[in-house]
Amino acid sequence: MLRMRGDSSKSCPCGSSQPYAACCGRYLDAGEAAASAEALMRARYVAYILLREDYLLATWHVSARPARLDLAQDVPMQWTGLQLRRHEHTDADHAVVEFVARYKVNGRAHRLHELSRFVREAYDDSAEAIRLRSGPGDPVAGMGKSFLCQGCHGTEGVSDVPEIPNLAGQYGNYIAKQVRNFQSGIRSHQIMNAMAATVENDADLADIGAYFASQPKMEGDHTSDDPVGKAIFLHGDQSRKRLACISCHGVNGKGAAPGTSMYPVLGGQKEEYIHKQLIDFRAGNRTNSPGGIMNIMARTLTDAEIDALANYLSVQ
Ligand code: HEC
Ligand code: HEC
Repeated sequence: MLRMRGDSSKSCPCGSSQPYAACCGRYLDAGEAAASAEALMRARYVAYILLREDYLLATWHVSARPARLDLAQDVPMQWTGLQLRRHEHTDADHAVVEFVARYKVNGRAHRLHELSRFVREAYDDSAEAIRLRSGPGDPVAGMGKSFLCQGCHGTEGVSDVPEIPNLAGQYGNYIAKQVRNFQSGIRSHQIMNAMAATVENDADLADIGAYFASQPKMEGDHTSDDPVGKAIFLHGDQSRKRLACISCHGVNGKGAAPGTSMYPVLGGQKEEYIHKQLIDFRAGNRTNSPGGIMNIMARTLTDAEIDALANYLSVQ
């Protein structure tokens, strides 16, 4: 994936006349979530200019998101300006933005007039986000059914043991998938293979998943931001054909959106646990990710990079 960094001291290409680092750089390079539809629209415009395919895809609504953009292969475009025509919030989570972006191709001027609808997809603990991430199960029924699990994973899904993962705020469907994988043996761990065998039917499993998913999302202590881990997480590594982790695992590793249960929450997860999973993916001891995607991602990570990623993610 091609990427260019904005020049942090120069004024932002979105035309705000603020320095890039204090304007769209906060969203494109520092991983902050854009606070308004207008800020997001400006950041996306800058992402086009900087060929930041990762950012464009991560902020595209799943219902309309293309699989890839291949920006670098398009005809060279020179972006010449952005003009905002309208910015209306239809409610707290929806907005409409109308803009005209001007660009040149081979010296000829073109304009792009667009009316965009923006949806804020909370990876927060709003009632709607919790409902979506919980999946089909009943969290109230799941509370009683997950008694055994709570013994290790914590009554509210926050474990006290470094090697035992948090389940609080994890996607319900992801939890259920992992338990099925432990049952069938595609994912192997002596204790969890035995624990998974105790969950008898699909409805119980969905309820257990929903119970943990409905807890306040796991959170780190925000003590430090490992710069190496952060850079890999946000930008990937083009030379080793590694995608940015953020494009699947979402801002701060908190999950891409409340409905994207395929990509687990990593932000605030136990450091030792994340570390072990990355080592296992790299060595091929864990092979249950769809299409082996995580084996591909982890294959080129060095030990130091795994340490850095585990540290960065666990404090989020
Ligand atoms: C005796 C302790 C113990 C009990 C009880 C237990 N687990 Fe686990 N669980 C673990 C450990 C340890 C791991 C980490 C496995 C690994 O390192 O791959 C784990 C991993 C998991 C994962 C994978 C999490 C992820 O992020 O991929 C899920 C899901 C899970 N357990 C669900 C359950 C459920 C549901 C129950 C109850 C039926 C349960 N566990 C009971 C110890 C336990
Ligand atoms: C193309 C999408 C994609 C990218 C990019 C990606 N991941 Fe993943 N990752 C996944 C999927 C899907 C899973 C769930 C695997 C499963 O179902 O068992 C996963 C699982 C994980 C897990 C295990 C979590 C758990 O709870 O057990 C870790 C840790 C992880 N990824 C870290 C990373 C890191 C670090 C990067 C960047 C170097 C990264 N991922 C990049 C898709 C991705």
